[in-house]
Amino acid sequence: MSKKLFLLPGDGIGPEIMAEVKAIIDWMNSAGLAKFETDEGLVGGAAYDAHQVSISEGDMEKAMAADAILFGAVGGPKWDKVPYEHRPEAGLLRLRKDLDLFANLRPAICYPALADASSLKREVVEGLDILIVRELTGGTYFGTPKEIVTLENGDKRAVDTQVYTTPEIERIARVAFELAKTRRNHVFSSEKHNVMRSGVLWKEVVTRVHAEEYADVQLTHILADNCAMQLVRNPKQFDVIVTDNLFGDILSDAAAMLTGSLGMLPSASLGAEDAKTGSRKALYEPVHGSAPDITGKGVANPIAMIGSLAMALRYSFGMIEEANKLEAAIAKVLADGLRTGDIAAKGEATVGTKDMGAAVLKAFQ
Ligand code: NAI
Ligand code: MG
Repeated sequence: MSKKLFLLPGDGIGPEIMAEVKAIIDWMNSAGLAKFETDEGLVGGAAYDAHQVSISEGDMEKAMAADAILFGAVGGPKWDKVPYEHRPEAGLLRLRKDLDLFANLRPAICYPALADASSLKREVVEGLDILIVRELTGGTYFGTPKEIVTLENGDKRAVDTQVYTTPEIERIARVAFELAKTRRNHVFSSEKHNVMRSGVLWKEVVTRVHAEEYADVQLTHILADNCAMQLVRNPKQFDVIVTDNLFGDILSDAAAMLTGSLGMLPSASLGAEDAKTGSRKALYEPVHGSAPDITGKGVANPIAMIGSLAMALRYSFGMIEEANKLEAAIAKVLADGLRTGDIAAKGEATVGTKDMGAAVLKAFQ
C-alpha cells in the first residue's frame, strides 16, 4: 500500500533543501524501494502570502491525513509585521498542537569528518551518537497560570507554571525506552527532583514504567544541571536522554553544538500511537530556521533536511535498512570531503545545495 508524505517546504531555504529530499523520494519510488504518494502545501510566510493565514484549513486536513509530514522551515524578515496570530511560527505550533506531537527527538551525531568543527576537542566528540527525547506539549511553556501582574506597589510579578501529569510522563518515558531498545539500551532520565515537585513525580513515574515494562533497559537518573555539565565534559557516555520541555530545549541546543553545524541536525516530532493501527502522527524537520541571509543563493546545506527524511523512513515507515543506508550516504559524502559553506573549514573548497544533494543521492544509490 502506498504511504502518504505531505511536504511543507515553507520559507527561505526551506524550498531549496526540500527539492533535494524530493529527488531522493522520486528515486526511491522509481527504483521500487518505496511507494510514496507525495502532496505539497504552504506553511508560514508562504501560506500568509497566499491565504493570509500561517497554514490553511485545507493543508491542515492534509497534514492530519498524512502518514508523515516533512517540514522545511518558516519565517523571515518579510513577515516581521504580520499580525501575531498569523506569524509564520504559528503554523508550526498549530501542527504540533493539533497533531499532539508530544515527543521531540533530536539526535546529536558527530561525524568523524566534521569532528574538528565541534565546540569540543575531537577525541571528546568523534563518533558521538546521542538521542535527546524532549517532551514537547507540556511543562513550563504551556502550564497555567502564565502571566505578568502589576502589584499594588507598582512592581511586576511574572509567573510560569511547570505542570506534568502521570500519563504525560508515562508516554514520553515509553517512547524513550522503546528507542533505547533499538540503540545502546540505556536511558538517562533528566529532571531536578531535588528542588521541583514535577521532578519528584517525573522520577517516580519513569522508575515505575521502567520496572513494569522495560526492566531490560538500563536506566540512569541524572539531575538536569549535572546532565548539562556531563554533555560538555564526556558526551559519549550518553545514549538516550529523556527530559521535560524546558530542560530538553536547553540540553538539545547544547548537544547540537557538539556536532559542528546547525545545517546538519534533523529532528522528529511524534504523536501518540493509534491503538488500532499502531501508526502515529509525525513531523520531521531540520533543527535550523529559514536562513534568510543565504536564501536564494543555492548554498544551503541540505543534510539536516535529508537526515529528517532518514528519520521518517526509520520511525514512520519501519524502513530501518533504508534509513541506515541514507545516513551512511551522508557520512560517506562528508568523508569524501564534500562541504557546503557552513561546514567548510577556512580555505576549504565548497559545493552548493544541489551538488551536495546529488552526491548524497548518488552515494545512497
Ligand atoms: P537560522 O537557523 O535560520 O540561521 C542561523 C544561521 O545558520 C544563519 O547564519 C544561517 O545562514 C545558518 N544556517 C541555518 N541553516 C543552514 C543550512 N541548512 N545551511 C547553511 N547554513 C545554515 O536561525 P535564525 O537566523 O535565528 O532565524 C531565521 C528565521 O528562521 C527567523 O524568522 C526564525 O524565526 C526562523 N526559524 C524557524 C525555525 C523553524 O522553522 N522551525 C527554527 C528557527 C528559526
Ligand atoms: Mg531552543
